[in-house]
Amino acid sequence: MASEKLWAGRTRGRPERAADDFNSSISIDCRMFRQDIAGSAAHAAMLARQGIISQDEYEKIKSGLEGILTDLEAGRLEIDQEAEDIHMFVEAELTRRIGETGKKLHTARSRNDQVALDLRMYLRDEADGIISLIKQLMGAILRQAEANLDVIMPGYTHLQRAQPIVFAHHMLAYAAMLERDIDRICDAVKRMNLSPLGSCALAGTTHDADRELTAELLGFSGITKNSIDGVSDRDFCLELMSALSILMMHLSRLAEELILWSSWEFGFVELDDGYTTGSSIMPQKKNPDMAELVRGKTGRVYGNLVSLLTTMKGLPLAYNKDMQEDKKEVFESVDTVRACLSIMEPMIATMKVNRERMHAAAQEGFINATDLADYLTKRGLPFRSAYRTVGEIVAYAMKNQKVLETLTLEEYKSFCDLFEADLYSEIDLSNCVAKRVSAGGTGPDSVAAQLKWLREYLGK
Ligand code: ARG
Repeated sequence: MASEKLWAGRTRGRPERAADDFNSSISIDCRMFRQDIAGSAAHAAMLARQGIISQDEYEKIKSGLEGILTDLEAGRLEIDQEAEDIHMFVEAELTRRIGETGKKLHTARSRNDQVALDLRMYLRDEADGIISLIKQLMGAILRQAEANLDVIMPGYTHLQRAQPIVFAHHMLAYAAMLERDIDRICDAVKRMNLSPLGSCALAGTTHDADRELTAELLGFSGITKNSIDGVSDRDFCLELMSALSILMMHLSRLAEELILWSSWEFGFVELDDGYTTGSSIMPQKKNPDMAELVRGKTGRVYGNLVSLLTTMKGLPLAYNKDMQEDKKEVFESVDTVRACLSIMEPMIATMKVNRERMHAAAQEGFINATDLADYLTKRGLPFRSAYRTVGEIVAYAMKNQKVLETLTLEEYKSFCDLFEADLYSEIDLSNCVAKRVSAGGTGPDSVAAQLKWLREYLGK
């Protein structure tokens, strides 16, 4: 049997040991101790301002809470794993330190609004941290793009060589995705950053509490509208988790390309030794484990989102203990995302780009075939006919083991008499890239504009 609980009165207050362990969330929610203490201090300040507790009582609570925080930070106080959760722990420790006055802290408050408050505060800080990590990764992408402005590579569709692009353009595609990820996280934070404190158990309180005041003290932009919703809502977790899932999908695609590009077959990039491993048996191997783990961990982040959605879907209003399961999932997602961003940034920054291999790959595979069709179109042939003619030329070249650059003008003319000697400059790879002048395309002006945007976005 465990020791007597705070709620002893209505019941014996002594659940079975196994039930106590089953019920406990302290091992998970202890990481919110700073938020719990800050929330409690703001709540106490409000209680004093409203005359619900005296100024003297407030001072005691405040310095008690400050002492707990300092001791926890300094490692002088350990969080008691026997406590049910972090909220119970802080309150019990406060009462142990300052006596009866500590028991006044929970006036006009419930753990239901307290946990919702702590979690919102915790996650908005994590969101900030994640945004800075995304920006660091964008910084590494920027540097690689700047260093590889003129590196021509094959662009792919269906993983088949499609059209020539520059490597910088390919990397900048990821910067565009990451900008949207940041936007999505900021948008989630907008709704997260409302204070539920004062919703109490579900119905509000009979005390003259000032919810706006605590919201302001804690840096929220406002308060939640409805107390029942205030304690039942976990949309703020789900929105963040879905933004993080999309972010992980992007990181996973980038990781997948690194894995592919660093394979023997591609050889487009070489990952730094610091971000690869060897094989325990095959001495020639250099494995892109970190990239593979980023790809692999994406599944966890998706899983956590689906898990919490499932937990929430059948719950009647208002708070239900099922919701205690939220933290494990959202914390794991946040931790995983942080770890993945932290490893992707140096991995991208240190990766070596093999411009010769990329260029050589771009020269095989007829990736300038569209340009050849465009050549005929600009000389009056309808695009569909030009497309057909070039298709026949490609088939002919393949049969004769040639590429578009090595076919003679006579051979070209045998397919269509619109061909002249200037066709060769049209299908030259650098020209193919330079001619892609449309906004957002792979042409130099467009890539320069994208780089300018990224530098400004990152304040570089
Ligand atoms: N540990 C709980 C949680 O994380 C705190 C809220 C408990 N409220 C309650 N009425 N039992 O959800």
